[in-house]
Amino acid sequence: MAAIPSLLRRLAIVVATTAMVILLPSPSVAGDPDLLQDICVADLTSTVKVNGYACKAAAAVTADDFYFSGLGGAGNTSASAYGSAVTGANVEKVPGLNTLGVSMSRIDYAPGGGLNPPHTHPRATEMVFVLQGTLDVGFVTAANNRLVARTLAPGDVFVFPRGLVHFQRNAGDGPAAVLSAFNSQLPGTQSLAAALFAASPELPDAVLAKAFQVGTKEVDKIKARLAPKKA
Ligand SMILES: *[C@@H]1O[C@H](CO)[C@@H](O)[C@H](O)[C@H]1NC(C)=O
Repeated sequence: MAAIPSLLRRLAIVVATTAMVILLPSPSVAGDPDLLQDICVADLTSTVKVNGYACKAAAAVTADDFYFSGLGGAGNTSASAYGSAVTGANVEKVPGLNTLGVSMSRIDYAPGGGLNPPHTHPRATEMVFVLQGTLDVGFVTAANNRLVARTLAPGDVFVFPRGLVHFQRNAGDGPAAVLSAFNSQLPGTQSLAAALFAASPELPDAVLAKAFQVGTKEVDKIKARLAPKKA
């Protein structure tokens, strides 16, 4: 009777495969952790340290905790050397977003090359919707440094995958603006130029000189430009 051992062998394979699938780590969650209650309005004054913000007392919650009117108008693009202005509507401005895993921002770009310089959002994928103007946008893959870029017009949408370096630049003669959506209550923004050349305390010149394959004079020049107070 060779049929029974063969059946047992097949059964053993099915059991082993099923066990492997169950025991393998579950796929990671590509966004903020899920919420455990209806609302947890951020108490931005609390000193309690948790992943996010502590919830304020339910009795103190008002509609204003879920409201923000700051995205209607253009930000001041003259206030930055890059000619762009980011206005966030994240948990810091809208405390009701705490634990909800979403946020928005508006970005304005000055005519003639206003730039949102290369940066990453460690905690969110970003989707931009062009309100006005023409923009050159792009991101670079981590796998092989491939630039994925194109030009956007009003009404267009573009995606910057979580954690990847990306930029937007005004390619037109008039003002440009986008509305951004994020799958995080606070995506975090790390600008590459500032992180490397305007950190406090400073990154050693030797580190930057070798990383960028230039001399320390060039490094000091960039540091001085990005942090004029130290020059
Ligand atoms: C915009 O920023 C510039 C530079 O900081 C400042 O001089 C100007 O007053 C600001 N404009 C408005 C409308 O706030």
